Amino acid sequence: MEGGMASRIGQRMRRLRNNDVLRGMLSETRLDAGEFVAPVFVRHGRHVVEEVGAMPGVHRYSHDTVGRYAAQLADCGIKSMLIFGIPKSKDSVGSHAYASSGVVPAAIRAVHDSVPSMVVMADVCLCEYTAHGHCGVLKGRNVDNDRTLPLLARAAVQYAKAGADVVAPSAMMDGQVAAIRAGLDLHGYEDTLIMGYSAKYASSFYGPFRSAAGSAPSFGNRRSYQMNPANAREAMREIELDIREGADMVMVKPAIGFLDVISEARKRFDAPLVGYNVSGEYAMVKAASQNGWLDGMAAAEEILMSIKRAGADLVITYHAEELARHMKGK
Ligand code: PBG
Repeated sequence: MEGGMASRIGQRMRRLRNNDVLRGMLSETRLDAGEFVAPVFVRHGRHVVEEVGAMPGVHRYSHDTVGRYAAQLADCGIKSMLIFGIPKSKDSVGSHAYASSGVVPAAIRAVHDSVPSMVVMADVCLCEYTAHGHCGVLKGRNVDNDRTLPLLARAAVQYAKAGADVVAPSAMMDGQVAAIRAGLDLHGYEDTLIMGYSAKYASSFYGPFRSAAGSAPSFGNRRSYQMNPANAREAMREIELDIREGADMVMVKPAIGFLDVISEARKRFDAPLVGYNVSGEYAMVKAASQNGWLDGMAAAEEILMSIKRAGADLVITYHAEELARHMKGK
């Protein structure tokens, strides 16, 4: 009787999952460290390697220690880094973002000296450099979109001059990609790529990053320029605009809570698509894993797999080094 019942099951899905080799061969999505981008915080000073409190395993470096870190990343198969600068001092117009003597140009040169093939991406924003912590210059208590654009373009040109392969505007100012493209081309950097933080949401998951970079706004919040997490269709308009303005790659950020946005963007656009697995998403996994509540590496693998499965080509993630090592069995 039981045999008769069972024989009516024509499709036994479990046949496809019966052993490791089959499961591996039939895997629709694979993780490859060459598709991870490792974010890195670079600050002023020397001999600095200091752990970020809210991000265990993530460190701030100075220009003289970041080259060694780049070599470590390359050793585990990582091909790209995204650099964030933490300047010595801040002012109302974020001068250190576009100073030729800034921390970011020095870090870009140090990384390329150490690993010439490393694809160096540089975040372009003013929030780490302004005393008020907003992503642009202020007019009263509002961020002045149009007066911010030339400053972002100046920063991008400085980073391109130092050798950045990719500049990544994250300020969410309207027209920032076009302004940066024009600035780069004018100065002879027509081969420098732009990765737009196209659909960047006003998210609470940036908390650990802001403590790492000291970039929390001193008043208000970023909701007047970053996107409302309730909106997915609006993200498609943002991405479309960035591509029209000249972005070579587009991004959805954060990634985990916005997999639907990644998936829809993948269907609509053919440009390379990047998912940013942000600081709060990393910190949650780390905190739970440090408490023994879950297996951190398995969770990270699952998360990155989901971001790729949704349609991202590249994933920016603080798990990059540890996971790449784990995948290599190092
Ligand atoms: C802005 C910027 C932020 C992040 C990347 N670029 C912070 C913000 O918008 O407040 C957050 C990244 C993360 O949380 O990992 N320059």
